[in-house]
Amino acid sequence: MSSQRVRLGVLVSGSGSNLQALLDACAREDFPAEVACVVSNVPTAFALERARKAGVTAKVVDHKAHAAKADFEKALLDTLRAANVEWVCLAGFMRLLSADFLGHYAGRVLNIHPSLLPAFPGLHAQRQALERGVKVAGCTVHFVDAGTDTGPIIAQAAVPVMPDDDEKALSSRILAEEHRLYPLAVRLAVTGKVTLDAARTRVEARATAGELALRNPGATVESA
Ligand code: GRF
Repeated sequence: MSSQRVRLGVLVSGSGSNLQALLDACAREDFPAEVACVVSNVPTAFALERARKAGVTAKVVDHKAHAAKADFEKALLDTLRAANVEWVCLAGFMRLLSADFLGHYAGRVLNIHPSLLPAFPGLHAQRQALERGVKVAGCTVHFVDAGTDTGPIIAQAAVPVMPDDDEKALSSRILAEEHRLYPLAVRLAVTGKVTLDAARTRVEARATAGELALRNPGATVESA
């Protein structure tokens, strides 16, 4: 099975707990993808340690070492291509990618964001949610376009906002859902169950329990 798995490149900048969720999912025999390469734009990112520990190629492409964004993206692209990456997952990657870069992986770049988009795009989404006083927060996996967290939505999971929540408490409740949602969304996307329909996505109607749980986050997730 492993030779048929879709090769993922995971782009990171920080702790990499979502990377870890993807690595853990890929360790399962029935998961349709493998992490071929992890690339960080931050040399000290803990995510690099996670990749090495999992025996996955870990590379640094430091944006600060490149005078122009186009040069940085060229280095990124070269690194992904050298690892024969087919799909790209952004997992806490803190750089915006240009339309030019995205064109090389058209319809095959995913991101996870800690809000129920289109609410609260950009930085500090959880803080924005608390400041706005919403009662339900959550996370979103979406296709990446050249905007900030604007691409077509694939899957979302919701969590309650509790009266005494601070940013840390809400972030950690959302993060637990992120770790569940990202592998499920990747599985749907790379197996062709998610298709683009203009600005929206269409997810194949026949669904496993795990897929149904994406649309009904309150449901118990059995095996995917
Ligand atoms: C996550 O909340 C993700 O949604 C956001 O950045 C954070 C990254 O966390 N884009 P980690 O590096 O995966 O632990």
